Amino acid sequence: RAHIVEEAIRVLRSNDYGHYTVPAQGLYPFQWNWDSALVSAGWAVFDEARAWRELEFLFSGQWEDGMVPSIVFHKPSDTYFPGPEIWGTPERPSKSTGISQPPVAALSVRFLYEHAEHRKVAEEKMESLFPKLLAWHRWWYKARDPKNKGVVAILHPWESGMDNSPAWDDSMQFPVDDIPPYCRCDLNHVNASMRPTKETYDHYLTLLYRFKAANFYDPDKLYWISPFRVTDLCVNSILFRANRDLSWIAQKLGKQDAVDEINQWLAKGFEAFSHLWDEDAGLFKCEDQITGKLADAPISAAFLPLFAGVASKEQAAKLALNLDKWLNKVSYGVPSTDPDDSRFEQLRYWRGPVWLIINWMISNGLKHYGYTDLAKQIEDHSKALTEKAGLREYFDPITGDGAGGRDFSWTAAMCLAWLD
Ligand code: DGY
Repeated sequence: RAHIVEEAIRVLRSNDYGHYTVPAQGLYPFQWNWDSALVSAGWAVFDEARAWRELEFLFSGQWEDGMVPSIVFHKPSDTYFPGPEIWGTPERPSKSTGISQPPVAALSVRFLYEHAEHRKVAEEKMESLFPKLLAWHRWWYKARDPKNKGVVAILHPWESGMDNSPAWDDSMQFPVDDIPPYCRCDLNHVNASMRPTKETYDHYLTLLYRFKAANFYDPDKLYWISPFRVTDLCVNSILFRANRDLSWIAQKLGKQDAVDEINQWLAKGFEAFSHLWDEDAGLFKCEDQITGKLADAPISAAFLPLFAGVASKEQAAKLALNLDKWLNKVSYGVPSTDPDDSRFEQLRYWRGPVWLIINWMISNGLKHYGYTDLAKQIEDHSKALTEKAGLREYFDPITGDGAGGRDFSWTAAMCLAWLD
């Protein structure tokens, strides 16, 4: 795979804006939160100093209350909508969105530390990033779990990263507001069949404008005013895993108070996850916090509790059985929705396509539970996809064709940090 490694390094270098990496030129021209965190693991393979800078620069956009925004708009660009002029966020300290994204960064800090050749530098970086990570995790509980359930809510599909997942379909049924007319830049870069629909975008923007009207995304208000309030498996699994890694970091740094605080989140989270288990389906499900109903859509995030390490052995066995079935329905896994489900669309963003970062998380989780063959199968599918289609944003699970953005940073990072 030497040629893929070379290609992956080329992609990261060409998407490098000095202190941060854009996910893809044109389509996503700013610093995206979970993209950057995942991409730092790719940089770590050939440039440790650059990898740390990626994370440090992401946290340069952290709000005073601890939130790390989903996008930091360091430099202007007119190729993305909605950009800083629509979000209109006061500089806090940079221009940014007013919502967050899956908290991957603690995983990356641990990854960078464990793979570091420059131990002394790694220790210093880990120590200086630790309070920022802790503040962000605290923010999740304060701003997104004010009812103290032990799992956090996303208030916008963009906060999950899985923007148009069928798991949000029912929760996105609220009426749209009379929003200003807008022009979607994403459709200048990617075929409309691979992107969310106009109706979905109208809902995204309705939420954005309502949140902006709430005193510019005031985190104390948003939870209560949002018509969309969902316990998302992606954010919660990543947060759970990130808490485990943060606790590990805190231990290394001798911060016992923080270890105790994080372990309490883990204990509560463990209990709360048991309510997201659908025994009949043998899958975890997202929950609408407004109606109290589990979302019936079978999505790839159902397997992420394996990555979190929060599934029981019995649950893991059922998940593995289901995953094996899903893989037998496609040429390349893991599809983002069960292909037998009526909402499955093989090309449309998070409604069917395969995403390498999710494949990494699922296969990592499977290994942890001892399902090495299944983990290896996902790894082989992932290698085959990048060899066939290149470093694309996502892939068609039936044909293996590439879809969405080209020369995509986190796909490149996965080839370096995972698939090599
Ligand atoms: C997009 O614009 O598609 C992004 O996923 C939003 O963060």
